[in-house]
Amino acid sequence: MTLRTPEAWTGRFGAILAVAGSAVGLGNFIRFPAQAAQYGGGAFMLAYFASFLIIGIPLVWAEWTLGRMGGKHGYHSAAGVLHSVVHRPWAKYLGGLGFLIVTLIFVYYISIEAWCLGYTVNALLGRFDGSTDYGAFFGTFVGAGANGSAIAFGLGDLGLFLLATFALNFYFIHRGISRGIETVCRYALPALLALALVILARVLTLGTPDPTKPDQNVINGLGFLWNPSKPGLSVFDDLANPQLWLAAASQVFFSLSIGMGVIITYASYLKPRDDVALSGLTAAAANEACEVGIGGTLTVPAAYVFLGASGVAALAGQTIGLGFIALPQVLANMPGGQALAVCYFGLLFLAALTSSLSMLQPGIALLEEGPGFDRGRSVGLLALLTALGAAFVWYFSADLKALDTIDFWVANVLIFIQATAVIIVFGWVIGIKQGLAETRRGAKMHVPDFVGPVMKYLCPAYLLAIFGLFVVNKIVGWNFRFGADAAFSPSGYVTDLVGPEPSAVARASFALIVAFLIFTLLLVRHSARRWQARANLTPAPSPLNPSSR
Ligand code: ALA
Repeated sequence: MTLRTPEAWTGRFGAILAVAGSAVGLGNFIRFPAQAAQYGGGAFMLAYFASFLIIGIPLVWAEWTLGRMGGKHGYHSAAGVLHSVVHRPWAKYLGGLGFLIVTLIFVYYISIEAWCLGYTVNALLGRFDGSTDYGAFFGTFVGAGANGSAIAFGLGDLGLFLLATFALNFYFIHRGISRGIETVCRYALPALLALALVILARVLTLGTPDPTKPDQNVINGLGFLWNPSKPGLSVFDDLANPQLWLAAASQVFFSLSIGMGVIITYASYLKPRDDVALSGLTAAAANEACEVGIGGTLTVPAAYVFLGASGVAALAGQTIGLGFIALPQVLANMPGGQALAVCYFGLLFLAALTSSLSMLQPGIALLEEGPGFDRGRSVGLLALLTALGAAFVWYFSADLKALDTIDFWVANVLIFIQATAVIIVFGWVIGIKQGLAETRRGAKMHVPDFVGPVMKYLCPAYLLAIFGLFVVNKIVGWNFRFGADAAFSPSGYVTDLVGPEPSAVARASFALIVAFLIFTLLLVRHSARRWQARANLTPAPSPLNPSSR
């Protein structure tokens, strides 16, 4: 029994491009500005950069390193990689989370990607203008009014675009690592960058479009993003809010695609002596440049100039409202608004496509090396599984309840668990000395010694503290601010499930997560039996047969 010969990137640059493509997504252009606006700009940025340095970079290095180590043993799924590197019975199940997380994210991410395609086509066809009511268009398009109402196939409905987006993703993933994923990233990343620069140039030269509101200018918009303190408040007032730290850490995870199993899988297709240190840092830096340099710099000032500080604050927390209602309205008010709308939605679609492709490859890898399916069958089975999940989200469209519920539990809980487990495996199970020695193998940059204690102590402690805050704050419902009175109210996501008036759709969405979890556990158990059988067939190393090592 042998593992199939893997495909590979065309080179180290291909891997960097693909990881950057995975990272640069809707998180950069929609989620990040909405979070920054919600938490008042500058204070959020401080917590965000702290999270990037303390958990972002260590996890990027840990995942690139583990992936390359597993690839050397012929494994490419997070389950296989951890199984081959850690040699403990639990390790493969921990890795199985990598399959579960990305597959679940895919089933709702693909919907949002389809909105982007639908909006791009509608903008191209000139169906948007200054008088468009984007709120009404959005409600109909996504079926936010009633369950089942998104299942329609006109130009103003989701159906057509969802099917097209789904087909496009599976077409490219079927083409493989280099011909599919790498090729898409090679064209999509520069294209989305060019589109982003067009909008950025427009936004940054807006000046003060309404002379009767001199405060609403670009400079003040940038100030809103970057100033750590607001009038009458010190930066510590904002930093005393635990929710801000939670939001900043979740954003770093989601945006860098860490804690998902994606980087582990992508890095496993590297050669054993390919650099991971500089490559990981380069991909992460590219993501940050797009997130802060473009996503934040484009969206927050544009919204500020037209809506003012109170208008931006009113968007607080409305990740989707900002991207699909407020900003399009703002763009429509600018000269050349129609062309800008095409650029904006086209940019979102390309960014989403390179990310959603990365959510499929970990699943394909597990199906190939676990049950031993060929690529065609793996792609077919994953398409079936994700189609069931995506159809669920498509049908239960009222208030976007299904989408929102799955996103909450996966992006906040499962990602934290996977990330914490990965960094503990790296620093404590493999051991920080050996782990860092692996990171340094073939490294094209110096990895300083202080990284060791950061990865071994600081990063896991920070992650556990943040996860503890999450449980106390959102699950138990103790909403405290340091130095202020506490209130007790569990998050709506919890009361939706176990409160006095539970939501049937939220419960069904949670059941979907559990069903995917059971499928994952069974798949990993079956895979492990095959891996064990393969190990039993491999002769033990002997001086006469050194190649069996
Ligand atoms: N990293 C991807 C994004 O930001 C998932 O959208």
